[in-house]
Amino acid sequence: MSKPHCARASDLPTISAIAARIHPDLPERPEVLAEKMRLCPDGCRVLAADEEIVGYGFAHPWTQRRIPALDDFLERLPDDADCLYLHDIAVLPRSRGGVARAYVAAIEQLARASGLAALALVSVYGTRPLWEGFCFRPVTADAELSAKLASYGERRDLHAPRPHCGVTSLPRSWLTRA
Ligand SMILES: CC(C)(COP(=O)(O)OP(=O)(O)OC[C@H]1O[C@@H](n2cnc3c(N)ncnc32)[C@H](O)[C@@H]1OP(=O)(O)O)[C@@H](O)C(=O)NCCC(=O)NCCS
Repeated sequence: MSKPHCARASDLPTISAIAARIHPDLPERPEVLAEKMRLCPDGCRVLAADEEIVGYGFAHPWTQRRIPALDDFLERLPDDADCLYLHDIAVLPRSRGGVARAYVAAIEQLARASGLAALALVSVYGTRPLWEGFCFRPVTADAELSAKLASYGERRDLHAPRPHCGVTSLPRSWLTRA
């Protein structure tokens, strides 16, 4: 597996195909992914094995506790960004193993270089133990954040048969790492 490198516009069809395969119940339009690549090219990487794209990771500056809606445009990055938000990482099953670790290392470097003191993400598919292994910690949800997480979940549940991919669902969690 080569080091994650910045996604190019020409990679978008492959990225979208992988997204559709890994996230059949959380579809996002290619143009929504393209916007993230435009707004934060350094955060949007492809993961390649033998020259073939086998996964991607998308991240962009954001504001903690403001959960971006899935499949919607960001329009612009916030002026008061205080975290690098990991929107998604997905890798084809045959190429897993060490990929999330490499991508988190890459965006951690990017966050530091950008003066962003925290990484943040919403954990889905029961991946909370994975993120906790990378030192992410759950944020205590106040009423406002709980409502946002619930709506994120409802949106997902509208499309998702359970259990998803054989993984027992945990509640969606908002995790941050300073
Ligand atoms: C999540 C995903 C990108 C991880 O990729 P990966 O290459 O397997 O990740 P890594 O091997 O770098 O993971 C690092 C560690 O976490 C562990 N891990 C991986 N997936 C895990 C999971 N779902 N739950 C708990 N631990 C997990 C790995 O075993 C590894 O531990 P080790 O270093 O002690 O061996 C990949 O499984 C995937 O594409 N899943 C489907 C999409 C998804 O869930 N995305 C995240 C949404 S928040």
